[in-house]
Amino acid sequence: MEQYIVKGGNPLAGEVVISGAKNAALGILAAAILADSPVTISNLPDVNDVNVLLEAIGETGASVLRIDRHTAKINGAGIYNCVVNNSYIKKMRASYYLLGALLGKYHHAEVALPGGCNIGSRPIDQHLKGFRALGATGRVVNGMVIVDAKRLKGARIYFDKVSVGATINVMLAATMAEGRTVLENVAKEPHVVDVANLLNAMGASIKGAGTDVIRIDGVHAMHGVEYSVIPDQIEAGTFMFASAATRGDVTIRNVIPKHLECLTSKLREIGCEVSEFDDSIRVVCNHRLHCTSVNTMPYPGFPTDMQPQITVLLSLAKGTSIVTESIFENRFRYVDELSKMGANVRVEGGNIAIINGCEHLSGAQVSVPDLRAGAALVIAALAADGVTTLEDIEYIKRGYEDFPEKIRSLGGMIEEVSTEREINKFRMKALSM
Ligand code: EPZ
Repeated sequence: MEQYIVKGGNPLAGEVVISGAKNAALGILAAAILADSPVTISNLPDVNDVNVLLEAIGETGASVLRIDRHTAKINGAGIYNCVVNNSYIKKMRASYYLLGALLGKYHHAEVALPGGCNIGSRPIDQHLKGFRALGATGRVVNGMVIVDAKRLKGARIYFDKVSVGATINVMLAATMAEGRTVLENVAKEPHVVDVANLLNAMGASIKGAGTDVIRIDGVHAMHGVEYSVIPDQIEAGTFMFASAATRGDVTIRNVIPKHLECLTSKLREIGCEVSEFDDSIRVVCNHRLHCTSVNTMPYPGFPTDMQPQITVLLSLAKGTSIVTESIFENRFRYVDELSKMGANVRVEGGNIAIINGCEHLSGAQVSVPDLRAGAALVIAALAADGVTTLEDIEYIKRGYEDFPEKIRSLGGMIEEVSTEREINKFRMKALSM
């Protein structure tokens, strides 16, 4: 079984280049099928979720050409199949973007119910509410979500919950609907804006992405373009926090510092030195950090996708911190694993973590419960004394490109291993350092 093995204690130092944003790429790839001419997407992260979605797009009959590791050319002209149902797609969340895109273009779609990280119940009622308001029917039959419409007509839709997925999905469906659609109480995440920017470049008329209200005037046809995905805000944040946790000095390149503002201010608040440049950010830490409180919120609030990483950081800080998870109901499953490393964290009511900072974490054998928790446990392992092994690393590979390679380039000691022999070899090397 594949595992990461990590020897902690080395401050990370140097420069790391951030890949394209996974969650933007997923919406963008689905959007690309709306055109009947080639859409070339660059700066795609080479991660499992993106590769699975590209395969699913291919199954519809769209042509998918991988030009290089980070660039794909998609042409939706050949689509003949609006049913997407394979064993991989069931494991990911963003498969549901094919519902919005296929419904918008062909007025019919059948996609396996989305899976994704197990971080609490993840309903799609707001997606279906939006599709229905546009004139579609939506039902779930034998694990498949089926949406159908004779015609799609613009509507005013108020989302009861701020949802990244529902905002992007209904935007995809409304782009080619008749007349005007107004989406209210929408998500404002950078990836929502990135998908809207691509759609506009393809000929859509979308205004207001990045604010609470998005207005869409339906168009008859979309055309091919070349488009580059924005840098990954969460990958960047993960390296910022890894630098802080290991008392390192890391410059994180290819970022949009504006997207990282709430992370930057939290890091400064707890005692890190953060310098912002045009497209890079440097995080320096040379002492023990202070405690704080954090509450996850939709953008521009503190992202839920950085909650496990800050909990790890605060588990090493002075004093008692409180982290409240307000977006997902079950996103502290990793705390039991972190406790094996000596962290003193108590979860109350399922969504509040009370963290009594300790001076040191120590290496242990842990398993990864989901993507961001996995990245956080790697940060814990890099900061800990001794050797940590992490099982179930496939979660991490869903969303982080070349994670061990990037960490090694900063001086961190991490290997992917799959045999006892490799583990022992690593342990011997770690002992001799
Ligand atoms: C996206 O998930 C991301 N995934 C998640 O990233 C991220 O944690 C999340 O947004 C929040 O930022 C992708 O982009 C593929 P939501 P999504 O709809 O769209 C409730 C990662 O690690 N809700 O914004 O599924 C929902 O239960 C992943 O990269 C409804 O009630 O999240 C949650 O409480 C994990 N009904 C809240 O809204 C709905 O119809 C926000 O969820 C939809 C959502």
